Amino acid sequence: MDKTFRNEVFGQACSWIKEAGDTIRAKIDAPRSIETKSNPNDLVTEMDQETEQFFAEKIKKAYPEHFLLGEEGFGDEIEELQGTVWVVDPIDGTMNFVHQKRNFAISIGIYHDGVGEIGLIYDVMDDALYTAKRGEGAYKNDHKLPQLSKERPLEQSILALNTSWMVPENPHVDHEGMQRLVKKLRSTRSYGSAALEFAYVAEGILDGYLTMTLMPWDYAAGAILVEEVGGTVSRADKGDLDLLNQTTVLASRANIYDEISDEYVQLKK
Ligand code: IPD
Ligand code: CA
Ligand code: CA
Repeated sequence: MDKTFRNEVFGQACSWIKEAGDTIRAKIDAPRSIETKSNPNDLVTEMDQETEQFFAEKIKKAYPEHFLLGEEGFGDEIEELQGTVWVVDPIDGTMNFVHQKRNFAISIGIYHDGVGEIGLIYDVMDDALYTAKRGEGAYKNDHKLPQLSKERPLEQSILALNTSWMVPENPHVDHEGMQRLVKKLRSTRSYGSAALEFAYVAEGILDGYLTMTLMPWDYAAGAILVEEVGGTVSRADKGDLDLLNQTTVLASRANIYDEISDEYVQLKK
């Protein structure tokens, strides 16, 4: 993507994400209409839908040749990653949005011919905007994030991990490997927003994030941010991420990445 054009798109995306965040904050205490999607714990609200619709309208008007891959269905049917694709999660952490009114984010990853060019994650209630452009580093608001440590060992690391992967019945990963991993680590955290978990890895306040079931809009922005500070991002078995389907993800500081995947992660399929 041409750099001048990328800067223009970046500026637009930053201004739209802030505008969408302002609207969400202004309506945070309004009555909510809450529905469920794939299961009783998969929540969606009118705010998720209105926010995605806001981006769909802005993108189509300003960049009619661009595509939108969005969670709530206001985007395009995308079967391949040609051209410029905006991958948008209007509210990542909807359960937190509903139950806690905090710890949720808007996530936008902009890809050109399959290459991540721009990543934006906006922690709405904290008014913290994490941004990255490929090759130009990552920022939290105006503060440039330093490169991640390549020294700290796994036993001094905090990994974002969902307790579901510890249960024998989980269909994704061998639970005994996960239990050994938890014993090895300094500690675990689970924030309930994949986008924020990536942002915290990029910020260096988490050492990694391991999960089994992410959709493209959950990690499209986060993967760009983490790579821009020298972290490693892939499927949990080290395979390439597939931006069109559900996937496992391991994002971490580079020096603990191999050890986590090789020694502890045994995928069931
Ligand atoms: C969810 C959150 C959650 C992750 C789920 C996602 P949503 O996104 O990122 O942390 O564990 O896999 O689906 O539904 O709140 O946008
Ligand atoms: Ca999400
Ligand atoms: Ca969402």
